[in-house]
Formats: sequence, structure tokens, C-alpha cells
Amino acid sequence: MRLLRDVEEWRAFADAQRAAHRRVALVPTMGALHAGHWSLFTTAKERGDVVIATSFVNPRQFDDQADLARYPHTPEVDRAAAETHGVDCLVEPSLVEMWPAYPDPTPTTVSVRALGDVLEGAARPGHFDGVASVVAKLLIVTGPCRVYFGEKDFQQLAVIRQMVHDLSFAVEVVGCAIVRDGDGLALSSRNAQLSDDARRRALVLSRAVARAGEAPTSASELRRVLRTTLASADVEVVYAEVVDPVTFAPSGDGDSGEARALVAAIVDGVRLIDNGPVLLKGDQ
Ligand code: PAF
Repeated sequence: MRLLRDVEEWRAFADAQRAAHRRVALVPTMGALHAGHWSLFTTAKERGDVVIATSFVNPRQFDDQADLARYPHTPEVDRAAAETHGVDCLVEPSLVEMWPAYPDPTPTTVSVRALGDVLEGAARPGHFDGVASVVAKLLIVTGPCRVYFGEKDFQQLAVIRQMVHDLSFAVEVVGCAIVRDGDGLALSSRNAQLSDDARRRALVLSRAVARAGEAPTSASELRRVLRTTLASADVEVVYAEVVDPVTFAPSGDGDSGEARALVAAIVDGVRLIDNGPVLLKGDQ
């Protein structure tokens, strides 16, 4: 596995792969890799792509400096895991190459309006501007055929799809299923910050999403199921919503068909999210 830091070396590596008629896949990460990331690497590898993974804790997507400071950082373990799970080139770009102006604002920002302003975007102002801007830069430097993201960050995936569509990036966006622990907890780099007791209470997020997914019913009934389930544990609910999976418009009681249930809660100071498919049965 190649380990690169320099943007021009990284660009040259990707250029050389394309020149040799190999397909390049990009897996963007913020490090602190877990089995959810490994599944993205192995899926990309199984499709025969040359896998370039990036590990960069992007400060522009954190609205809270304390959250950024707390974000787990495990570079040595990550390098070994990336190599084991099929990454051909791991890029750990420096902050100064990614955002030379930082901590001053970077003049250029990619903003995905509407989709990027609700739920996570409303709770974390500027978050999706930071995500879209960094992913745009990672795509421009790498020039991959495919880019892989986990569905745990379902709204992020929708924002990226919209950006790729609107700006005509020549890349296929691949969303991969959420990887869960045996007890249902969605894998997240932030889980490492949970005490045993907080982790036990955090299970209410996956339980809420699973209950909402059990049987088709109205949007308001699904919201009720999400909220009452979340209220059964000592967590601070940020949102519990049912939305259109593409536009993120809130689902109404007249709607039927596929929708997405999304929840966010703070458990002892750790912000967790989860989501899953639900079926709406509209008013007859
Ligand atoms: O999902 C993440 O880890 C990050 O938001 C991403 C896509 C790597 C951008 O920094």
C-alpha cells in the first residue's frame, strides 16, 4: 500500500492508474477506521477498482471546536487496517494543503441548498458546506470513476449525489449499507467515546429506526413511533423525522411508498445518528 501526503503525488498516482486503464475508486474518510469503512474498501476492491482512501479530519465540517478536538485519531491502526482491507493508496493530506487559509475562512465554498439546510444541516450550521467543499476537492484531485460512502450518513450521501449531479462530476456515487454491531448499534468513529452505560442507552437509536421500519403506516404514526421509542432511554433527542429519501422533504400523511426515518441524539455529550428505510401507507 502506498502512503501519500502530498497533493501532487496523490494526483500523479491517480493519473498513472488511469493512464494504465485502471478504474480508480475513492473512499473518503476522516480516519478512526472501523468495520463500516472496511466494508467500503472491500466493496470497491471486489469491483476491481484501484482503491484510494483519504484520511482527513476536515475542520470545515465541524461547527463545534470541542467536537473537532475530541474527534478520535488513530493513524497507525488505520494504516494497518487500510492495507489489510484492500486499500492500494492511503492519502493523509495535510491541513495546509487542503485548506491553506485555515483557520481563516476559505474563500471558495460548495453549498448544496435545501437538502443541506435541514436536519443535520439545521442542527450543525455550515456542516454540509464543509462536507461538500472537501468532497469536491477530493474528487477533483483524485478523478475517480466511483466514490463510496456509507448510508449511516444518509443525508451526507444525498447532499453529495446532488452536488455530483449539479456540478457534473464524472463519478458514480455508491452508497453502501450501514454496518452494525451485533446488538444493532450503527458503527461510528464516535462510538469509541461512549462509556459502557452510554453505549447501552445509545441502542435506542437503532431500536427506534428498526421499529419504524417494521410495518407500513402513516408518516405521523412513524414519527410517533420514533419519538416514543427514543423517549424510553435517557438520551437528548436532536431530531426524529420521516422524509423523502431523495429531496428530504418531510413526508406527509397523504404520502405512500418508500421514505427514510432519520434520528439524531446526544448521549452523554456524544452526537449519534441512525436511519433506515420505512414504508408509508397513505390515507385511503
Ligand atoms: O463521512 C465522513 O467521514 C466525512 O464527512 C467525509 C465524507 C470523509 C468528508 O470529510
